[in-house]
Amino acid sequence: MNPLASSVLSSVRAPDPASPAQLPAAPARSAATPAALVGDTPVLWVGEPFTPAGRGFWAKLEGHNPGGIKDRTALYMVAAARERGALPPGARIVESTSGTLGLGLALAGITFGHPVSVVTDPGMEAQVAGLLRAYGAEIHTVTTPHPDGGWQRARREKVAELLAAHPDAWCPDQYHNPDGVAAYRPLAHELAAQLGRIDTLVVSVGTGGHSAGIGRVLRVFFPALRVVGVDTCASTIFGQPAGPRLMRGLGSSIHPRNVAYDLFDEVHWVAAPESVWAARALARTHYATGGWSVGAVALVARWLARTSPAEDRIAAVFPDGPHRYVSTVFDDDYCRAHRLLGHEPPEAPDEIARPDQAVVTRWTRCRTVTTPRAAATGAGRPDLAGAAR
Ligand SMILES: Cc1ncc(COP(=O)(O)O)c(C=O)c1O
Repeated sequence: MNPLASSVLSSVRAPDPASPAQLPAAPARSAATPAALVGDTPVLWVGEPFTPAGRGFWAKLEGHNPGGIKDRTALYMVAAARERGALPPGARIVESTSGTLGLGLALAGITFGHPVSVVTDPGMEAQVAGLLRAYGAEIHTVTTPHPDGGWQRARREKVAELLAAHPDAWCPDQYHNPDGVAAYRPLAHELAAQLGRIDTLVVSVGTGGHSAGIGRVLRVFFPALRVVGVDTCASTIFGQPAGPRLMRGLGSSIHPRNVAYDLFDEVHWVAAPESVWAARALARTHYATGGWSVGAVALVARWLARTSPAEDRIAAVFPDGPHRYVSTVFDDDYCRAHRLLGHEPPEAPDEIARPDQAVVTRWTRCRTVTTPRAAATGAGRPDLAGAAR
């Protein structure tokens, strides 16, 4: 039998012991609470045929958490707020989220005994809304975008309204809460232990939490680390003008305070059809895949694997798995309706010298990362009118 077949079979066919006493004493993944299942996610080698022969990257599969990457942040932010007394026992948690943090907060609510209200917009996938309700969360859907700040601003205004209605309630404020960055230290430690050495980190940016949290720790371990940020076209984070965005999770129409601009060596903006192409190609070739952010990160990591020195070790963070995207990224009717199919991305991105040089509408790279003026002055950072507790 060839070595691949034999290693696959030995992992799926464990011989039956004669009695339970002969079973290993403590299987590594047993847990007394669902929260204990968060973290220690695997890394997967993504190589041929997604990448050229001999090249590839390591994907950190955060979809192996019970909800997704934000389980880490949700548990951390809630635990820290309880410790500080900002979140009294049994008080309500209210937050604006496109889904992943909502799943994490539902887990934190069950773990610590808090009701959870999630504010979202009509773009939330039915599967995620259904799951959130099943996990006991209450969902509030805003119906019209804010004229300047889009859906995100409309959601944040609804959060402020709910906080005013529930005097005890607390909002994690994921865009600006430093605990949302600190929560990712263990993820950085896991990556360093799993890979030994990391030359390039590829991370998507939404609130900026995981890129800042992981990047800061890994830069200390590996001072020459190259940090590559991945955003979506029409997102304001790295200085492009706001526009309608189909992709969820990564990207923003405000300027989250958690984005660590000083950390990034370069940024790539990716368009929805390019992300769909990569997410689908990954699914066909590697089974492990995800949605908008995973597709975008994988597209950029694939290019880095092809163009970096062969010995470079590239780590790419996949924030969640594919399941919530069956009615979008993996649905032919949805993709046809949004003209997302049949656009194989170019082999390399376009390049601009400064983020404000041109409005980008397809995969584009910029090696100058600066803090956009609106982010530096706070103009693009609407807080919750003093209501964030
Ligand atoms: C699926 C997905 N990908 C990427 C991100 C971006 O991560 P961060 O908010 O840590 O920048 C998010 C954030 O919600 C997400 O839900």
